[in-house]
Amino acid sequence: MKKIVLLIALACVGAFAADGAAIYKKCAVCHGQKADKKYLNKVPVLTEIDPAQRLADMKAYKAGAINGGKGKINMGAIMKGQMATLSDADMAAVNDYISTLK
Ligand code: HEC
Repeated sequence: MKKIVLLIALACVGAFAADGAAIYKKCAVCHGQKADKKYLNKVPVLTEIDPAQRLADMKAYKAGAINGGKGKINMGAIMKGQMATLSDADMAAVNDYISTLK
């Protein structure tokens, strides 16, 4: 019985992880509720970036490959930390969610 409960709990965690809206909650602090905020008045508004570019940027931040790219504030390390726990599926889900925020 305990095992079954654990499996259900794990399945829920999995579903949560691929939920773009849920993932975006932690991004909102910096990028705005509607992904419409210029963080520190410099980072481009997320909804104005081409979706394919946005996803590529997220993957590059995770890999530690961009720092201060278009935002030019040399805070790639912050984004690396944000992306560290996201899988490719999570990034795709949150990217799709951002596209719905216009
Ligand atoms: C603590 C603040 C903070 C949080 C939280 C945060 N970001 Fe960022 N984000 C930044 C900063 C700072 C940059 C610019 C980094 C640099 O200098 O390259 C950035 C850049 C980006 C870019 C690239 C923008 C461009 O110029 O093309 C994307 C895409 C992005 N963030 C998505 C996200 C997503 C999705 C999340 C949530 C999973 C998130 N961020 C959470 C601060 C944050």
